[in-house]
Amino acid sequence: MTVHRSVLDAVGGTPLIQLNRITAGLAAAVHVKVEFANPGGSVKDRAALAMVREAERLGHLQPGGVIVEGSSGNTGVGLAMVAAQHGHRAIVVVPDTIAREKVALLRAYGAEVVQTIGKLPREHPEHVNNLARRIAAETPGGWHANQYDNPANPRVHELTTGPEIWEQTDGRVTHLVAGIGTGGTISGTGRYLKQHGVTVVGADPVTSVYSGGDGSPYFVESIGHYLHPSTVDDVWPESFDRGVIDRFERIADRESLAVARRLAREEGLLVGGSAGTAVAAALRVAAELGPEHVVVAILPDSGRSYLSKYFDDDWMTQLGFLDAPDGPFVRDAVQEHGLAVAHAGQSLAAVLDVHSDGLVAVVTPRDSDTPTRSAPEVIGVVEPAALRALVAADPHRSDDDVTAHAGPAPVAVGAGENLAAAKARLAGDVPVLVLVDGRAVTVVARNALEQVPVASR
Ligand SMILES: Cc1ncc(COP(=O)(O)O)c(C=O)c1O
Repeated sequence: MTVHRSVLDAVGGTPLIQLNRITAGLAAAVHVKVEFANPGGSVKDRAALAMVREAERLGHLQPGGVIVEGSSGNTGVGLAMVAAQHGHRAIVVVPDTIAREKVALLRAYGAEVVQTIGKLPREHPEHVNNLARRIAAETPGGWHANQYDNPANPRVHELTTGPEIWEQTDGRVTHLVAGIGTGGTISGTGRYLKQHGVTVVGADPVTSVYSGGDGSPYFVESIGHYLHPSTVDDVWPESFDRGVIDRFERIADRESLAVARRLAREEGLLVGGSAGTAVAAALRVAAELGPEHVVVAILPDSGRSYLSKYFDDDWMTQLGFLDAPDGPFVRDAVQEHGLAVAHAGQSLAAVLDVHSDGLVAVVTPRDSDTPTRSAPEVIGVVEPAALRALVAADPHRSDDDVTAHAGPAPVAVGAGENLAAAKARLAGDVPVLVLVDGRAVTVVARNALEQVPVASR
Protein backbone atom coordinates (compact mmCIF):
# COMPACT_ATOMS: atom_id res chain seq x y z
CA MET A 1 0.00 0.00 0.00
CA THR A 2 1.26 3.49 -0.80
CA VAL A 3 -1.35 5.29 1.25
CA HIS A 4 -0.06 8.20 3.35
CA ARG A 5 -1.03 7.99 7.00
CA SER A 6 -2.13 11.62 6.87
CA VAL A 7 -1.83 14.68 4.70
CA LEU A 8 1.38 15.50 6.55
CA ASP A 9 3.21 12.57 5.00
CA ALA A 10 2.62 14.20 1.62
CA VAL A 11 4.73 17.24 2.57
CA GLY A 12 7.97 17.45 0.56
CA GLY A 13 9.10 15.24 -2.29
CA THR A 14 7.88 17.85 -4.79
CA PRO A 15 8.55 17.48 -8.53
CA LEU A 16 11.42 19.14 -10.36
CA ILE A 17 10.29 20.35 -13.77
CA GLN A 18 12.33 21.51 -16.75
CA LEU A 19 11.35 24.82 -18.32
CA ASN A 20 11.06 24.60 -22.08
CA ARG A 21 9.58 27.65 -23.75
CA ILE A 22 10.46 30.61 -21.55
CA THR A 23 14.09 29.44 -21.80
CA ALA A 24 14.23 29.60 -25.62
CA GLY A 25 17.72 30.47 -26.79
CA LEU A 26 19.47 29.54 -23.55
CA ALA A 27 22.16 26.87 -23.52
CA ALA A 28 21.92 26.01 -19.81
CA ALA A 29 18.93 24.09 -18.47
CA VAL A 30 16.55 25.76 -16.02
CA HIS A 31 14.59 23.43 -13.74
CA VAL A 32 12.00 24.50 -11.23
CA LYS A 33 11.15 22.92 -7.89
CA VAL A 34 7.38 23.27 -7.71
CA GLU A 35 6.74 23.79 -4.02
CA PHE A 36 3.09 24.63 -4.68
CA ALA A 37 2.72 20.85 -5.03
CA ASN A 38 2.92 20.55 -1.25
CA PRO A 39 -0.52 19.74 0.21
CA GLY A 40 -0.92 23.16 1.86
CA GLY A 41 0.13 24.78 -1.40
CA SER A 42 3.56 26.20 -0.57
CA VAL A 43 7.16 25.62 0.42
CA LYS A 44 6.12 26.63 3.92
CA ASP A 45 4.50 23.28 4.65
CA ARG A 46 7.99 21.91 5.19
CA ALA A 47 8.96 24.53 7.77
CA ALA A 48 5.55 24.44 9.49
CA LEU A 49 5.65 20.68 9.99
CA ALA A 50 9.27 20.71 11.14
CA MET A 51 8.75 23.56 13.61
CA VAL A 52 5.66 21.94 15.16
CA ARG A 53 7.30 18.52 15.47
CA GLU A 54 10.34 20.06 17.14
CA ALA A 55 8.22 22.15 19.53
CA GLU A 56 6.18 19.09 20.50
CA ARG A 57 9.36 17.07 21.03
CA LEU A 58 10.82 19.78 23.26
CA GLY A 59 7.53 20.19 25.14
CA HIS A 60 7.13 23.82 24.07
CA LEU A 61 3.83 22.93 22.41
CA GLN A 62 1.59 20.77 24.55
CA PRO A 63 -1.29 18.59 23.31
CA GLY A 64 -4.28 20.77 22.49
CA GLY A 65 -2.00 23.82 22.39
CA VAL A 66 -2.28 27.06 20.45
CA ILE A 67 0.13 27.72 17.60
CA VAL A 68 0.65 31.46 17.02
CA GLU A 69 2.58 32.91 14.10
CA GLY A 70 3.12 36.10 12.16
CA SER A 71 2.99 35.20 8.51
CA SER A 72 2.34 36.64 5.08
CA GLY A 73 0.02 33.68 4.73
CA ASN A 74 1.79 30.54 3.62
CA THR A 75 3.42 29.59 6.91
CA GLY A 76 0.07 30.23 8.54
CA VAL A 77 -1.62 27.84 6.13
CA GLY A 78 1.05 25.21 6.74
CA LEU A 79 0.69 25.60 10.50
CA ALA A 80 -3.11 25.49 10.32
CA MET A 81 -2.86 22.26 8.31
CA VAL A 82 -0.55 20.68 10.87
CA ALA A 83 -2.70 22.02 13.72
CA ALA A 84 -5.74 20.31 12.22
CA GLN A 85 -3.96 16.94 12.23
CA HIS A 86 -2.26 17.31 15.61
CA GLY A 87 -5.26 18.75 17.44
CA HIS A 88 -3.96 22.27 18.09
CA ARG A 89 -5.53 25.67 17.47
CA ALA A 90 -3.84 28.12 15.11
CA ILE A 91 -3.83 31.91 15.39
CA VAL A 92 -2.18 33.70 12.48
CA VAL A 93 -1.24 37.38 12.50
CA VAL A 94 -1.09 38.73 8.95
CA PRO A 95 -0.15 42.10 7.47
CA ASP A 96 -3.03 43.98 5.82
CA THR A 97 -1.05 44.04 2.55
CA ILE A 98 -1.43 40.35 1.69
CA ALA A 99 -3.72 39.07 -1.05
CA ARG A 100 -7.24 38.50 0.23
CA GLU A 101 -7.16 34.93 -1.10
CA LYS A 102 -4.57 34.10 1.55
CA VAL A 103 -6.80 35.37 4.37
CA ALA A 104 -9.70 33.33 2.99
CA LEU A 105 -7.45 30.26 2.82
CA LEU A 106 -6.38 30.63 6.44
CA ARG A 107 -9.99 30.87 7.56
CA ALA A 108 -10.91 27.86 5.41
CA TYR A 109 -8.35 25.81 7.37
CA GLY A 110 -9.97 26.97 10.60
CA ALA A 111 -7.21 29.36 11.62
CA GLU A 112 -8.09 32.50 13.57
CA VAL A 113 -6.79 35.46 11.59
CA VAL A 114 -5.60 38.69 13.22
CA GLN A 115 -4.86 41.48 10.75
CA THR A 116 -2.37 44.23 11.54
CA ILE A 117 -0.78 47.10 9.62
CA GLY A 118 1.88 45.75 7.28
CA LYS A 119 4.26 48.68 7.14
CA LEU A 120 5.28 49.43 10.72
CA PRO A 121 8.64 50.04 12.39
CA ARG A 122 10.10 46.82 13.71
CA GLU A 123 9.84 48.09 17.30
CA HIS A 124 6.13 48.89 17.05
CA PRO A 125 3.97 46.75 19.41
CA GLU A 126 1.52 46.03 16.59
CA HIS A 127 4.27 44.88 14.19
CA VAL A 128 3.34 41.39 12.90
CA ASN A 129 6.04 39.57 14.86
CA ASN A 130 5.64 41.55 18.08
CA LEU A 131 1.90 41.04 18.04
CA ALA A 132 2.28 37.30 17.41
CA ARG A 133 4.78 37.02 20.26
CA ARG A 134 2.44 38.89 22.60
CA ILE A 135 -0.64 36.83 21.66
CA ALA A 136 1.36 33.62 22.21
CA ALA A 137 2.50 34.82 25.64
CA GLU A 138 -0.99 35.86 26.69
CA THR A 139 -2.82 32.77 25.39
CA PRO A 140 -2.89 29.72 27.68
CA GLY A 141 -1.05 26.90 25.87
CA GLY A 142 0.29 29.43 23.35
CA TRP A 143 3.48 28.80 21.41
CA HIS A 144 5.07 31.29 19.01
CA ALA A 145 6.43 29.36 16.02
CA ASN A 146 8.71 32.30 15.03
CA GLN A 147 9.82 31.08 11.62
CA TYR A 148 12.20 34.07 11.43
CA ASP A 149 14.48 32.76 14.15
CA ASN A 150 13.49 29.10 14.47
CA PRO A 151 16.41 26.80 13.49
CA ALA A 152 13.96 24.04 12.52
CA ASN A 153 12.99 26.22 9.52
CA PRO A 154 16.33 26.25 7.65
CA ARG A 155 17.21 22.79 8.97
CA VAL A 156 14.29 21.07 7.24
CA HIS A 157 15.48 22.46 3.90
CA GLU A 158 18.99 21.18 4.56
CA LEU A 159 17.52 17.77 5.33
CA THR A 160 14.89 17.58 2.56
CA THR A 161 14.80 20.27 -0.16
CA GLY A 162 18.56 20.23 -0.77
CA PRO A 163 18.95 16.42 -1.00
CA GLU A 164 15.82 16.16 -3.17
CA ILE A 165 17.27 18.59 -5.73
CA TRP A 166 20.63 16.80 -5.69
CA GLU A 167 19.00 13.44 -6.32
CA GLN A 168 16.46 14.69 -8.85
CA THR A 169 19.25 16.19 -10.98
CA ASP A 170 21.55 13.16 -10.53
CA GLY A 171 24.06 15.57 -9.04
CA ARG A 172 24.08 17.78 -12.14
CA VAL A 173 22.69 20.94 -10.49
CA THR A 174 25.24 23.77 -10.67
CA HIS A 175 23.19 26.80 -9.52
CA LEU A 176 20.41 27.26 -6.98
CA VAL A 177 18.18 30.35 -7.23
CA ALA A 178 15.66 31.31 -4.55
CA GLY A 179 14.07 34.34 -2.96
CA ILE A 180 14.62 35.21 0.69
CA GLY A 181 11.80 35.85 3.13
CA THR A 182 12.81 34.35 6.45
CA GLY A 183 15.78 32.94 4.54
CA GLY A 184 14.93 29.41 5.63
CA THR A 185 14.62 27.99 2.13
CA ILE A 186 17.79 29.43 0.62
CA SER A 187 19.91 28.97 3.75
CA GLY A 188 19.06 25.31 4.33
CA THR A 189 18.86 24.20 0.70
CA GLY A 190 21.93 26.26 -0.12
CA ARG A 191 23.93 24.90 2.80
CA TYR A 192 23.34 21.35 1.61
CA LEU A 193 24.00 22.02 -2.07
CA LYS A 194 27.11 24.12 -1.43
CA GLN A 195 28.83 21.01 -0.08
CA HIS A 196 28.53 19.79 -3.66
CA GLY A 197 29.95 22.96 -5.19
CA VAL A 198 26.62 24.50 -6.20
CA THR A 199 26.52 28.31 -6.61
CA VAL A 200 23.75 29.93 -4.56
CA VAL A 201 21.96 32.97 -6.01
CA GLY A 202 19.58 35.14 -3.99
CA ALA A 203 16.71 36.57 -6.05
CA ASP A 204 15.73 39.82 -4.35
CA PRO A 205 13.36 42.73 -5.05
CA VAL A 206 15.44 45.76 -6.04
CA THR A 207 14.40 47.88 -3.07
CA SER A 208 14.87 45.06 -0.51
CA VAL A 209 17.66 45.79 1.96
CA TYR A 210 18.95 42.20 1.74
CA SER A 211 20.69 43.03 -1.54
CA GLY A 212 21.40 46.68 -0.79
CA GLY A 213 18.11 48.42 -1.67
CA ASP A 214 16.65 51.41 0.19
CA GLY A 215 14.04 49.24 1.95
CA SER A 216 11.04 51.00 0.37
CA PRO A 217 7.88 48.96 -0.27
CA TYR A 218 7.59 46.61 -3.24
CA PHE A 219 4.68 44.55 -4.51
CA VAL A 220 6.00 40.99 -4.66
CA GLU A 221 4.80 39.32 -1.46
CA SER A 222 6.77 37.26 1.03
CA ILE A 223 10.34 37.87 -0.05
CA GLY A 224 12.91 40.60 0.48
CA HIS A 225 13.29 42.84 3.51
CA TYR A 226 11.24 46.01 3.87
CA LEU A 227 12.62 48.69 6.17
CA HIS A 228 10.37 51.22 7.84
CA PRO A 229 12.24 54.55 8.05
CA SER A 230 11.52 54.80 11.78
CA THR A 231 12.95 51.38 12.56
CA VAL A 232 15.80 51.99 14.98
CA ASP A 233 17.45 48.60 15.01
CA ASP A 234 16.98 46.63 11.82
CA VAL A 235 17.48 42.97 12.64
CA TRP A 236 17.63 40.26 10.00
CA PRO A 237 16.11 36.82 10.66
CA GLU A 238 18.35 34.22 12.27
CA SER A 239 16.91 31.76 9.75
CA PHE A 240 18.82 33.67 7.06
CA ASP A 241 22.45 32.65 6.72
CA ARG A 242 23.84 35.47 4.56
CA GLY A 243 27.11 33.56 4.15
CA VAL A 244 25.39 30.94 2.01
CA ILE A 245 24.69 33.39 -0.81
CA ASP A 246 27.32 33.68 -3.53
CA ARG A 247 25.59 36.47 -5.41
CA PHE A 248 22.34 38.37 -5.67
CA GLU A 249 20.20 39.08 -8.69
CA ARG A 250 18.08 42.15 -8.04
CA ILE A 251 14.74 41.99 -9.79
CA ALA A 252 12.23 44.82 -10.22
CA ASP A 253 8.56 44.09 -9.51
CA ARG A 254 7.68 44.63 -13.17
CA GLU A 255 10.03 41.84 -14.26
CA SER A 256 8.97 39.48 -11.44
CA LEU A 257 5.29 39.89 -12.25
CA ALA A 258 5.80 39.68 -16.00
CA VAL A 259 7.73 36.42 -15.59
CA ALA A 260 5.09 34.99 -13.22
CA ARG A 261 2.43 35.75 -15.82
CA ARG A 262 4.54 34.27 -18.63
CA LEU A 263 5.09 31.07 -16.64
CA ALA A 264 1.33 30.49 -16.60
CA ARG A 265 0.88 31.18 -20.30
CA GLU A 266 4.04 29.68 -21.74
CA GLU A 267 4.82 26.83 -19.36
CA GLY A 268 1.43 26.09 -17.81
CA LEU A 269 2.83 26.85 -14.36
CA LEU A 270 0.55 29.13 -12.33
CA VAL A 271 2.82 30.57 -9.66
CA GLY A 272 3.08 33.50 -7.27
CA GLY A 273 5.13 36.67 -7.60
CA SER A 274 8.13 35.40 -5.65
CA ALA A 275 8.38 32.47 -8.08
CA GLY A 276 8.44 35.09 -10.84
CA THR A 277 11.36 36.77 -9.07
CA ALA A 278 13.23 33.47 -8.78
CA VAL A 279 12.71 32.49 -12.41
CA ALA A 280 13.59 35.98 -13.65
CA ALA A 281 16.88 35.64 -11.74
CA ALA A 282 17.39 32.08 -12.99
CA LEU A 283 16.96 33.21 -16.60
CA ARG A 284 19.60 35.90 -16.10
CA VAL A 285 21.98 33.40 -14.52
CA ALA A 286 21.35 30.78 -17.22
CA ALA A 287 22.02 33.33 -19.97
CA GLU A 288 25.66 33.47 -18.82
CA LEU A 289 26.14 29.70 -18.75
CA GLY A 290 26.90 26.90 -21.17
CA PRO A 291 25.03 23.63 -21.81
CA GLU A 292 26.83 21.76 -19.03
CA HIS A 293 25.03 23.84 -16.39
CA VAL A 294 21.76 23.15 -14.61
CA VAL A 295 20.05 26.02 -12.83
CA VAL A 296 17.36 25.14 -10.28
CA ALA A 297 14.87 27.79 -9.14
CA ILE A 298 12.50 27.34 -6.22
CA LEU A 299 8.85 28.20 -6.95
CA PRO A 300 7.40 28.80 -3.45
CA ASP A 301 3.67 28.92 -4.14
CA SER A 302 0.80 28.96 -6.59
CA GLY A 303 -0.71 31.86 -8.50
CA ARG A 304 -4.12 30.83 -7.18
CA SER A 305 -3.37 32.95 -4.12
CA TYR A 306 -2.88 36.04 -6.25
CA LEU A 307 -5.74 36.01 -8.74
CA SER A 308 -6.87 39.37 -7.33
CA LYS A 309 -3.41 40.86 -7.78
CA TYR A 310 -0.78 39.69 -10.23
CA PHE A 311 -3.26 37.90 -12.47
CA ASP A 312 -5.82 40.71 -12.39
CA ASP A 313 -5.18 43.02 -15.35
CA ASP A 314 -6.96 45.95 -13.63
CA TRP A 315 -4.76 45.65 -10.53
CA MET A 316 -1.65 45.49 -12.71
CA THR A 317 -2.72 48.44 -14.87
CA GLN A 318 -3.79 50.68 -11.99
CA LEU A 319 -0.40 50.27 -10.37
CA GLY A 320 1.43 51.02 -13.60
CA PHE A 321 2.79 47.53 -14.25
CA LEU A 322 0.81 46.98 -17.45
CA ASP A 323 -0.80 49.01 -20.25
CA ALA A 324 -4.53 48.81 -20.92
CA PRO A 325 -5.42 47.17 -24.24
CA ASP A 326 -6.45 50.53 -25.75
CA GLY A 327 -5.41 54.18 -25.38
CA PRO A 328 -5.40 57.05 -25.11
CA PHE A 329 -3.51 56.40 -21.90
CA VAL A 330 -3.08 58.51 -18.77
CA ARG A 331 0.51 59.17 -19.83
CA ASP A 332 -0.76 60.76 -23.06
CA ALA A 333 -2.61 63.49 -21.13
CA VAL A 334 -0.30 64.15 -18.21
CA GLN A 335 2.69 66.40 -18.53
CA GLU A 336 5.26 64.75 -16.34
CA HIS A 337 6.95 67.30 -14.12
CA GLY A 338 8.75 64.79 -11.97
CA LEU A 339 7.50 64.24 -8.45
CA ALA A 340 7.78 67.23 -6.14
CA VAL A 341 8.12 65.93 -2.58
CA ALA A 342 8.04 67.20 0.98
CA HIS A 343 8.94 64.94 3.87
CA ALA A 344 6.46 64.24 6.63
CA GLY A 345 7.73 66.15 9.66
CA GLN A 346 9.00 69.16 7.67
CA SER A 347 7.68 72.60 8.63
CA LEU A 348 5.57 74.64 6.23
CA ALA A 349 8.40 77.19 6.12
CA ALA A 350 10.84 74.49 5.00
CA VAL A 351 8.44 73.26 2.34
CA LEU A 352 7.78 76.77 1.04
CA ASP A 353 11.52 77.40 0.84
CA VAL A 354 11.74 74.71 -1.81
CA HIS A 355 8.35 74.67 -3.54
CA SER A 356 6.39 77.59 -4.90
CA ASP A 357 3.70 76.17 -7.14
CA GLY A 358 1.96 73.06 -8.46
CA LEU A 359 1.26 70.13 -6.17
CA VAL A 360 3.66 68.52 -3.75
CA ALA A 361 3.46 64.93 -2.49
CA VAL A 362 4.02 64.53 1.24
CA VAL A 363 6.03 61.33 1.63
CA THR A 364 7.45 59.15 4.37
CA PRO A 365 11.00 60.44 4.87
CA ARG A 366 13.55 58.05 3.43
CA ASP A 367 17.15 58.47 2.36
CA SER A 368 16.81 57.77 -1.30
CA ASP A 369 18.18 59.23 -4.46
CA THR A 370 15.44 57.83 -6.69
CA PRO A 371 13.22 60.49 -8.27
CA THR A 372 10.10 58.32 -7.71
CA ARG A 373 8.44 57.15 -4.50
CA SER A 374 6.83 53.86 -3.70
CA ALA A 375 3.06 54.51 -3.81
CA PRO A 376 2.33 53.32 -0.23
CA GLU A 377 4.73 55.96 1.09
CA VAL A 378 2.79 58.91 -0.35
CA ILE A 379 0.82 60.17 2.64
CA GLY A 380 -1.01 63.08 1.05
CA VAL A 381 -0.67 66.14 -1.17
CA VAL A 382 -0.23 69.86 -0.44
CA GLU A 383 -0.52 72.92 -2.64
CA PRO A 384 2.24 75.48 -1.94
CA ALA A 385 0.00 78.37 -3.03
CA ALA A 386 -2.56 77.44 -0.38
CA LEU A 387 0.14 76.97 2.27
CA ARG A 388 1.56 80.40 1.44
CA ALA A 389 -1.84 82.01 1.87
CA LEU A 390 -2.23 80.23 5.20
CA VAL A 391 1.13 81.42 6.51
CA ALA A 392 0.49 84.96 5.25
CA ALA A 393 -2.74 85.06 7.27
CA ASP A 394 -1.13 83.57 10.38
CA PRO A 395 2.72 83.57 10.47
CA HIS A 396 2.75 81.14 13.43
CA ARG A 397 1.58 78.43 11.06
CA SER A 398 4.99 78.39 9.36
CA ASP A 399 6.20 76.00 12.08
CA ASP A 400 3.34 73.52 11.47
CA ASP A 401 4.21 70.00 10.38
CA VAL A 402 3.31 69.76 6.70
CA THR A 403 1.61 66.42 7.38
CA ALA A 404 -1.16 68.22 9.27
CA HIS A 405 -2.04 70.06 6.04
CA ALA A 406 -1.76 67.12 3.65
CA GLY A 407 -5.13 66.20 2.28
CA PRO A 408 -6.18 62.57 2.17
CA ALA A 409 -3.95 60.20 0.20
CA PRO A 410 -4.43 61.06 -3.47
CA VAL A 411 -6.07 58.70 -5.90
CA ALA A 412 -3.48 56.68 -7.79
CA VAL A 413 -3.78 55.89 -11.48
CA GLY A 414 -1.47 53.86 -13.67
CA ALA A 415 0.41 55.68 -16.42
CA GLY A 416 -0.77 52.99 -18.82
CA GLU A 417 -4.41 53.08 -17.76
CA ASN A 418 -7.00 53.96 -20.35
CA LEU A 419 -7.66 57.67 -19.80
CA ALA A 420 -11.46 57.43 -19.78
CA ALA A 421 -11.35 54.44 -17.39
CA ALA A 422 -9.01 56.32 -15.04
CA LYS A 423 -11.24 59.41 -15.04
CA ALA A 424 -14.28 57.29 -14.31
CA ARG A 425 -12.58 56.11 -11.10
CA LEU A 426 -11.98 59.65 -9.81
CA ALA A 427 -14.67 61.17 -7.65
CA GLY A 428 -14.51 64.95 -7.28
CA ASP A 429 -11.56 67.25 -7.63
CA VAL A 430 -8.96 64.99 -6.03
CA PRO A 431 -5.24 65.15 -6.69
CA VAL A 432 -4.04 62.34 -8.92
CA LEU A 433 -0.88 60.37 -8.38
CA VAL A 434 0.47 58.81 -11.55
CA LEU A 435 2.20 55.47 -11.03
CA VAL A 436 4.76 53.56 -13.04
CA ASP A 437 5.78 50.20 -11.59
CA GLY A 438 3.98 50.89 -8.30
CA ARG A 439 5.93 54.11 -7.81
CA ALA A 440 4.66 57.69 -8.03
CA VAL A 441 6.24 59.57 -10.93
CA THR A 442 4.17 62.73 -10.75
CA VAL A 443 1.18 64.30 -9.00
CA VAL A 444 -1.32 66.44 -10.90
CA ALA A 445 -4.67 68.08 -10.37
CA ARG A 446 -7.64 66.13 -11.67
CA ASN A 447 -8.22 68.59 -14.50
CA ALA A 448 -4.85 67.59 -15.95
CA LEU A 449 -6.62 64.47 -17.16
CA GLU A 450 -9.14 66.62 -19.04
CA GLN A 451 -6.49 67.97 -21.35
CA VAL A 452 -6.42 66.83 -24.93
CA PRO A 453 -4.19 63.80 -25.08
CA VAL A 454 -0.75 64.67 -26.42
CA ALA A 455 -1.06 61.87 -28.95
CA SER A 456 -4.16 63.36 -30.59
CA ARG A 457 -3.06 66.98 -30.67
C1 LIG B 1 5.33 32.94 -1.52
C2 LIG B 1 6.60 32.88 -0.76
N1 LIG B 1 7.74 33.04 -1.40
C3 LIG B 1 8.92 33.01 -0.76
C4 LIG B 1 8.99 32.81 0.59
C5 LIG B 1 10.33 32.87 1.26
O1 LIG B 1 10.73 31.69 1.83
P1 LIG B 1 11.68 31.71 3.09
O2 LIG B 1 10.89 32.31 4.23
O3 LIG B 1 12.02 30.29 3.34
O4 LIG B 1 12.86 32.55 2.79
C6 LIG B 1 7.82 32.64 1.30
C7 LIG B 1 7.84 32.50 2.74
O5 LIG B 1 6.85 32.69 3.41
C8 LIG B 1 6.59 32.64 0.62
O6 LIG B 1 5.42 32.50 1.26
